[in-house]
Amino acid sequence: MMIFIWAEDQHHAIGHKGQLPWHLPADMAFFKQTTTGHTLVSGSRTFASYKKPLPNRKNVVLTTRTETDYPSNVTVLHSVDDVVAYEHAHPNEKVIISGGAKVFKSLLPYVDTLIRTRVQHTFKADTYMPEIDYDQFQLVSSTSHPADEKNQYGLTFERWERKQH
Ligand SMILES: NC(=O)c1ccc[n+]([C@@H]2O[C@H](COP(=O)([O-])OP(=O)(O)OC[C@H]3O[C@@H](n4cnc5c(N)ncnc54)[C@H](OP(=O)(O)O)[C@@H]3O)[C@@H](O)[C@H]2O)c1
Repeated sequence: MMIFIWAEDQHHAIGHKGQLPWHLPADMAFFKQTTTGHTLVSGSRTFASYKKPLPNRKNVVLTTRTETDYPSNVTVLHSVDDVVAYEHAHPNEKVIISGGAKVFKSLLPYVDTLIRTRVQHTFKADTYMPEIDYDQFQLVSSTSHPADEKNQYGLTFERWERKQH
């Protein structure tokens, strides 16, 4: 079972200068709540943006580099095939892919569930979500979180499941 989790703006932007384009504690809390206790797979750039492995999750990094100095509690994988093999070898783990764009693009054919936060604003950005054919997925839940004193922009939390053929 492979899951994507990400937040995007109204133009599918997800990143700027190696970081998120926004500061939205409600989405950070949602990410933490959704991923805690599970396996999180990140591209090397996204993992670098965390500064250190995220606590209470199994951290997996995807990189083409064979010489790396990640902490010993980080699992290092080198290809899409490695991620698919990892998923098959760990059927009891919820494998959640946390991006970035390159990783999402390469794993799109394998994903079962999309957990998307829509941010109701347009930001300056340099990284965008790859195009997704939402006809292949069904929206199973959608929850709104209005802007408030801590979150400058409104958010919608969506969950999509791949349609069965
Ligand atoms: N809004 C969100 O939800 C969200 C989520 C995630 C990230 N972001 C943002 O997006 C930006 C980072 O995304 P990005 O697309 O630039 O980078 P990324 O996908 O995080 O990392 C790219 C790197 O991952 C490795 N990689 C990717 N696909 C691979 C594959 N198939 N096989 C082996 N290695 C692979 C390569 O590492 P090596 O170069 O080490 O070989 C590649 O250079 C940041 O700004 C981040 O904050 C936003």
